[in-house]
Amino acid sequence: MVDNPIKIAVLVSGGGTNLGALINAERNGIIKHGKISLVLSSNPRAYALQRAYEAGIPTAIVTRKSHEEPGKFEEALIEILERAEIEFVVLAGFMCILGRNFTKRYENRIINVHPSLIPSFCGKGFYGLKVHEAALSYGVKVTGATVHYVNEIPDAGRIIMQKSVLIKEGDTPETLQRRVMEQAEWKILPKAVEKVCAEIFKSKK
Ligand code: GAR
Repeated sequence: MVDNPIKIAVLVSGGGTNLGALINAERNGIIKHGKISLVLSSNPRAYALQRAYEAGIPTAIVTRKSHEEPGKFEEALIEILERAEIEFVVLAGFMCILGRNFTKRYENRIINVHPSLIPSFCGKGFYGLKVHEAALSYGVKVTGATVHYVNEIPDAGRIIMQKSVLIKEGDTPETLQRRVMEQAEWKILPKAVEKVCAEIFKSKK
């Protein structure tokens, strides 16, 4: 780990297996230019929060329900991120679409992992298992995962990394989701985080 690593916030809503991959990558030295300094969940019951506690990472919870007025949810997120002096935001299974105010505030400093090869099976309504259901019902033979920058259009920001995964005879959305995570998401997300952190780190010098 370098001195003064980039302060990373990981935004989550569910199981947090991608967060787990990032925690391991930081421990193993794959992520050298960044430090996970905050885990922010939109869901108070997310297992990702447990992973954060166990790793000794500070956590925060902001639900959509408690910030229903337009823009208030993003304002609450920004306030927490600014207080923690976050420099880089990673969406890892964060199931909320973020508005322009937020994505502009973190332009080129916010990335997302998506469980398909963008531009297939992405955009509004394509999240979690739904992505794999759509890939199987379309009959594609190859799918994968994508890490991309986040802008105000869901899943439309510049692509940073992709990895393909073969679909097998008899795959269900669940078996496919697991294989895409193991073979693609948990591999490319830590690499992409290190790549962008190193770039931000160098740009600060
Ligand atoms: C992951 O497959 C991630 O790519 C996907 O949700 C899952 C979260 O799992 N994200 C999206 O679909 C966003 N559009 P995790 O909580 O175990 O990391």
